[in-house]
Amino acid sequence: MGDPKTRPVEGWHEVDFNSEPFLTDFKSVYRSMHESGCPYAHSTTGDHYAVGSHAEIMNILRKHDIWKSKYGPALEYLESPGVLVSVDPPEHTFEVRIVANCFSKEVFESLIPDMEAFVNARLDEVFDNREMDLHEAISIPFPLFVIHKLLGIPLEDENGESRIGFIRDGIITSVGMMLEPVASREATMGKLGPDDPGLAGVMKTAQIYQEHLALCKARLESGEWADDENIVCRFLTTPGPDGSFLSEDKILGFMSFLETAGSATTTIMLSNVIYRLLTEDGAYERVSRDPSLIPVAIEETLRLDSPVQGLFRTNDEPVELNGCPLDVDTKVMLLWAGGNLDPEVYDDPHMFNLDRDPAKVRRHLSFGYGTHFCRGAPLARLEGEIFLNAILPRLKNLRLNGEVVMEKRIPVLQGIRNLPVAWDT
Ligand code: HEM
Repeated sequence: MGDPKTRPVEGWHEVDFNSEPFLTDFKSVYRSMHESGCPYAHSTTGDHYAVGSHAEIMNILRKHDIWKSKYGPALEYLESPGVLVSVDPPEHTFEVRIVANCFSKEVFESLIPDMEAFVNARLDEVFDNREMDLHEAISIPFPLFVIHKLLGIPLEDENGESRIGFIRDGIITSVGMMLEPVASREATMGKLGPDDPGLAGVMKTAQIYQEHLALCKARLESGEWADDENIVCRFLTTPGPDGSFLSEDKILGFMSFLETAGSATTTIMLSNVIYRLLTEDGAYERVSRDPSLIPVAIEETLRLDSPVQGLFRTNDEPVELNGCPLDVDTKVMLLWAGGNLDPEVYDDPHMFNLDRDPAKVRRHLSFGYGTHFCRGAPLARLEGEIFLNAILPRLKNLRLNGEVVMEKRIPVLQGIRNLPVAWDT
């Protein structure tokens, strides 16, 4: 390990992004960053800086010839070749062209009937119970169902057993370490035995991807499946701008990235929007009465409760950050969640307000900005709308029904772990 690239900077905030009080009280940290007029921080545990100013985050993202993604979106310096969020143009241009073909509006909209059927079937199962942990019952399985539909991998194994448990364990372990400093990450990994559910989950999921890729290749070759059978078949058969195809390693990387990036984030958004509607005065009744408010309710929740706290870039050349000279390849965390609470952009930024100008709310940074802007954003929004359109008219007098437990196992994400609710039948 080399010398640290970062150090405390006069006037900047000192924040431990991995532990209390940040995990519980991150919004107060963002508030004090903004109120101090210096929305910059140095991490006390990881070797990185962080930026919470909306304008500065966008400024950095516009300078993509300086600020690179090549070392990956996590604190760790990625060594193996990554995909999408871990590559820069021209490699990124090649990959994103293929993803754009496979992630079209038509592909997403073709999933609508299955998505509606899934959420309604879940509600049918629990309806007469008049209570559930909504996070466990719908927010977790729904986005996984959608990703697996896209991938063409069943969520149950050949014996009808659900795969959700070990897939989630794997996601919690892998994403859970994204902010962990290298030394403690190695120590944590060293302590985990092969029976650790998280590691086992990562390995079992990787094996399923391998088997599925082999199946897709074989079925395409035999002519049993067409190019558009599922997204993996699309990846195998869609050429990039130069006519060449994604390597198998890249396709495996895409599968793993999509499962993680597309499910854990959307899960958080779904529970957060229900939580907001149930805890903000009159919001649930107002949106139930007027479902045209559903899109703004989703956007305002994304703004106020960004599922991803922030992700990293590194500078390819020496630059200054708010006057502080940076060594080349310094990790800088762009705090989407902090930028969304920037009073320079939003009045009363910590307030949930359904009357904000919808176009302005959508300027939130929860899906990133610029080159790497989230390709799944339209799908996540669609999932949110289908979810609320099913729940609001069916679950009368929906209310919280016990302690809402926050999820602290994944510091880079903010969200809920248990969302107990009850309703009348
Ligand atoms: C509420 C849900 C979601 C949130 C908050 C979210 C957030 C993000 C963010 C912040 C980025 C930017 C990364 C960066 O700049 O380094 C990103 C990129 C990406 N997301 Fe999402 N995401 C969500 C849902 C999804 C879904 C459902 C999918 C697909 C099924 C998806 C696929 C992607 C892809 C492919 C990229 C990479 C884009 C690129 O590098 O060009 N996301 N997402």
